[in-house]
Amino acid sequence: MPVRRRLLVCLLTALALAGCGQDGNVQVRPARTGQITVGFSQIGESSRWRAANTKSIKNSFGIENVRLIFAVAGLSRDKQVADIQRFIHDKVDVIAFSPVVETGYDDVLRQAKAAGIPVILTDRVIKTADPGLYLSSIGSNFTAEGSSAAVWVKGEFRNSQKPVNIVELEGTAGSAPAVQRKAGFREGLGDDERFRIVATPNGNFSRSEGEAAMKTVLKTQHDIDVVFAQNDDMGIGALTAIQAAGKRPGKDIKVVTIDAIHDGLTALAEGKINYVVECNPLIGPQLVALIKDVYLGIRVPRRVDTDETVFFPENVRDYINDREY
Ligand code: AHR
Repeated sequence: MPVRRRLLVCLLTALALAGCGQDGNVQVRPARTGQITVGFSQIGESSRWRAANTKSIKNSFGIENVRLIFAVAGLSRDKQVADIQRFIHDKVDVIAFSPVVETGYDDVLRQAKAAGIPVILTDRVIKTADPGLYLSSIGSNFTAEGSSAAVWVKGEFRNSQKPVNIVELEGTAGSAPAVQRKAGFREGLGDDERFRIVATPNGNFSRSEGEAAMKTVLKTQHDIDVVFAQNDDMGIGALTAIQAAGKRPGKDIKVVTIDAIHDGLTALAEGKINYVVECNPLIGPQLVALIKDVYLGIRVPRRVDTDETVFFPENVRDYINDREY
């Protein structure tokens, strides 16, 4: 029997058996038909990273009889909550979503729980007083990404006799990657007083906003050693602002970013960015595997971390041509 059909048979058998709880938190209700319907709410579609994340999810749901209802929140938590409410109303079998920000989902997740619909968080996480409101989460360790960026900065400037002035370009306020990368970066810098974060403008994870934010900083800060951009897009925007100010990114001002999209790695290869920490958006296969386990009655892990690496000018050319995003 072909693998896909075998998987489908397993899923349908499991559907018939569904109704058993997962860790006592979420009751998986019996499906109404033989088809599994998954409602997925995506944050938005504004960047190459996000587009790759969407593509990975959509492609992974190419299994016969597993239906994906895909909604896009346009960077609005309110729209995302409305999307989730619609999924509950439509009686989907599983809800998955990438939360725009960390808070404000408890009410709608209580509704999902009352309806017996398991919830899986992807990419980003939420802060909640009731962890039983979601079954599992898949994504990157944002804190470790921030720490990795800081460790590079400390290594690069280890012999510096003077203060090291750092500009941190922050992502969407209140979002898990912005909050956790910021915390991880500070953790990585530790208590060495030479390392000073002199400005933390918000670039909303966007290239144009990153450029605008950096332009503003450069008007008042004339002695910047490092830009830590919480994603590639803001970092690439910052490169334009640095060049416009007559400085050489990667040389006069070191630049460290997170994501490893193709444009970020290209700038790394060109010497304009100095270090890139990967944040892997290709989590569709892990999400489908998790959903499959939920319906097979297999105890699923509370947390699934994605595999990630880091890139330097010395190793980037080995990867750049095969980059999918
Ligand atoms: O949640 C992942 C982050 O969100 C990525 O670093 C960024 O590019 C996206 O906007």
